[in-house]
Amino acid sequence: MKLIINGKTEEIALEGLKVAALLKEKKVQMPEMVSVELNGEILDRGVFESVILKENDKVEFLYFMGGGSQGFSTKCIHAGHVKDPGNGATAIPIFGSAAFSYDSAQDLADVFDGKRYGHVYSRISNPTVTSFEQRVNALEQGRGALAVSSGMAAIATVVFALTGQGDEIVAAKSLFGGTLLLFNDLISKYGVKITYVDTMDTGAYKRAINEKTRLIFLETIANPKLDVPDIKAVAEIAAQNNIPLVVDSTITTPYLFEAKKFGTAIAVHSATKYMTGNGTAIGGVFVDTGVHNWKSSKNPSLKKYIDKFGEFAFLAAARKQVLQNAGSCLSPFNAFLHCLGLETLSLRMEKHCANALAVARHFSKHPAVKSVNYPGLDNSIYKETAARQFNGKFGAVLTFSLGTKEKCFDFAGRIKIAGNLSNIGDAKTLVIHPASTIFHDCGRTEMLDAGVTEDMVRVSVGIEDVEDIIADFEQALL
Ligand SMILES: Cc1ncc(COP(=O)(O)O)c(C=O)c1O
Repeated sequence: MKLIINGKTEEIALEGLKVAALLKEKKVQMPEMVSVELNGEILDRGVFESVILKENDKVEFLYFMGGGSQGFSTKCIHAGHVKDPGNGATAIPIFGSAAFSYDSAQDLADVFDGKRYGHVYSRISNPTVTSFEQRVNALEQGRGALAVSSGMAAIATVVFALTGQGDEIVAAKSLFGGTLLLFNDLISKYGVKITYVDTMDTGAYKRAINEKTRLIFLETIANPKLDVPDIKAVAEIAAQNNIPLVVDSTITTPYLFEAKKFGTAIAVHSATKYMTGNGTAIGGVFVDTGVHNWKSSKNPSLKKYIDKFGEFAFLAAARKQVLQNAGSCLSPFNAFLHCLGLETLSLRMEKHCANALAVARHFSKHPAVKSVNYPGLDNSIYKETAARQFNGKFGAVLTFSLGTKEKCFDFAGRIKIAGNLSNIGDAKTLVIHPASTIFHDCGRTEMLDAGVTEDMVRVSVGIEDVEDIIADFEQALL
């Protein structure tokens, strides 16, 4: 049978050949990362095992980068690790190379064109970064992932890929301060309007959507308000309007929150936090979970990517239009640290969550603490939704109201084991006064909407012995 494969006529001595079998026959590298165009139509991956090829069919293989497919902890350790044939390294090798060379000009051209698997230049993709992307994608059971230089870059990349001038976003009011600044200070400058809603009011999301809305954005557990929306309900609204729900799952990680199961189209993470787990590297990543049908999207920003990449349109736009041009690439050295951190994610998250619950319970009875906000406390209005969505766990970020800003500053100044610094998701316990730091540049209304008050400290509970964390806070509260 004659087939035209990537523009070349080839004789294949097999009848009744299915697409999946052709990938095998042609020894296509990384078959989980290739999309297939048959006679000008991009095929869904689901039909690779059923579509039978006919004489003179035109088949194009296009690499979009991403993909991957065991139990959660096994994937944390093994997913994305391509065996090192040269030396048999057991750790993911760090490919500290800006560019990648090929024997012939045609080979390089084919890689550029997506017709052959490979890397060209590390601003666009890099093998160590690909390993990290594949690991996170496997954890989210997604269609593909893209890693970038920070959590902020991840959010910005998603938004820039999905919006253009005159478009709109519907977002939760309770968001991380950096995200609010990104939306209000930068994204809005490019003519994109952001409509904020109370994330607990599912109907408000529905009411805020119009024909210009390109995405809904919310946090699983908002940092630092810690309110917990009904994500499935919001996802249904997004699906009814044929727009993607983008969820920042930094606080929950894929260990607590199965983004895909709850209808999230794009799960975003600051890899700086729990994914790495030790505060050693800044990075970000997002996953197209496969929930959204891009081929039916009316988003004008995606049109040319839908025509060429079908269901991979969003990932292709994010890599080719935003990452490649904005240059917000992840360093392979950081990707290595993120991969290393991910190996212990499930163990750490169990300990983080158990410690946080014990700290929250202990200090909710303390005379120097006016109130404790933690979704795992019995009196929390978020407890039921959080338990249902986050596998019976509640994350490891909590806030204390201490009465005045001065009391917060005194507390932060007296802690000994915990650090007074701007980060979360470290193995070490961390404390900060958000109003005078992260939310310093936000307006008062924005700050209050995000649940930030002058008398509040945020605590990211670490994985030290919980008795030591409690004793440290006790002495600091005197
Ligand atoms: C929920 C959330 N999203 C995004 C970010 C931004 O991540 P990065 O600092 O890696 O840019 C943070 C940082 O604190 C965060 O807490």
